[in-house]
Amino acid sequence: MEQLAIVTGASSGIGKAVAKKFLQLGHKVILVDRNLERLRTVEEELEAWNGRFMCNETDVSDIKSIDVLTDQIKRIKADRYVLVNCAGVFRGGLLHESVTEDYEIQFNINVRGTYLMMKAVLPLMLEAHGGSIVNVASVSGMRGDYNAPLYCASKGAVVSLTRAAALDYMEKGIRINCVSPSATATPMFLSGTSRNVMQAFQDALPDHKIGLPEQVADAVLFLASPQAEHICGHNLPVDGGLTAWNGQPRQDKNVG
Ligand SMILES: NC(=O)c1ccc[n+]([C@@H]2O[C@H](COP(=O)([O-])OP(=O)(O)OC[C@H]3O[C@@H](n4cnc5c(N)ncnc54)[C@H](OP(=O)(O)O)[C@@H]3O)[C@@H](O)[C@H]2O)c1
Repeated sequence: MEQLAIVTGASSGIGKAVAKKFLQLGHKVILVDRNLERLRTVEEELEAWNGRFMCNETDVSDIKSIDVLTDQIKRIKADRYVLVNCAGVFRGGLLHESVTEDYEIQFNINVRGTYLMMKAVLPLMLEAHGGSIVNVASVSGMRGDYNAPLYCASKGAVVSLTRAAALDYMEKGIRINCVSPSATATPMFLSGTSRNVMQAFQDALPDHKIGLPEQVADAVLFLASPQAEHICGHNLPVDGGLTAWNGQPRQDKNVG
């Protein structure tokens, strides 16, 4: 069976790690990103692998750009499709100081982009009588984060979109799930984050480790695989135990 994985945000971070792992498994991969320069660098890096991939400059928030991508996807022979929506952006700041552009950018890319990509690829999956979609949400979409209300709202929407859409397509053999990473060592988290804040994240995470993009990619590949055949509409935190914690401090007594 020839599987084609379409991975957005694939020139960087989690998306790049996901694309590499699909290639390692011998699947065909389309690496989608808006950053052509970085895509070219990734292309050179992967050239030595097996030539079973294609890089595509697409803005996932732009319907015309996605239409061009969809035409290209249709030209590639595949029996099964996997879509991984990693493209995303983060804009922090207090709500009363935000500009509407902060809202628009995050909802256009994180939510609309995920929706448009799902809308584009689902017909191919229906035709193929099966497929799998994994959206990359965030622990920020599960609970609140200080100084990031709009990002949190956009990721909460991705979790809800995943759950509701999963119900409608399960009977058609299409599974839709999402992963929710905590802080992960990618340009999105690392660039501009101070040493103090990085340390604070490490202190807050029960395993005291900033996640690696490859660890998130492993969770994505599992959800996309036949090993997760009975898992649908699930949101899998990849967070070093963060969401297991209710935020209360450690108890220091044994009897109360
Ligand atoms: N890193 C974390 O701590 C963390 C935690 C939880 C969730 N996440 C989520 O994980 C996903 C991947 O993030 P990452 O950490 O791997 O970040 P990253 O390294 O910045 O990668 C994101 C990629 O998506 C691309 N992109 C942004 N907008 C796009 C658009 N409209 N069309 C196509 N591509 C676009 C980015 O290009 P540009 O560089 O041009 O923007 C970048 O190449 C995101 O959805 C993010 O919200 C990340």
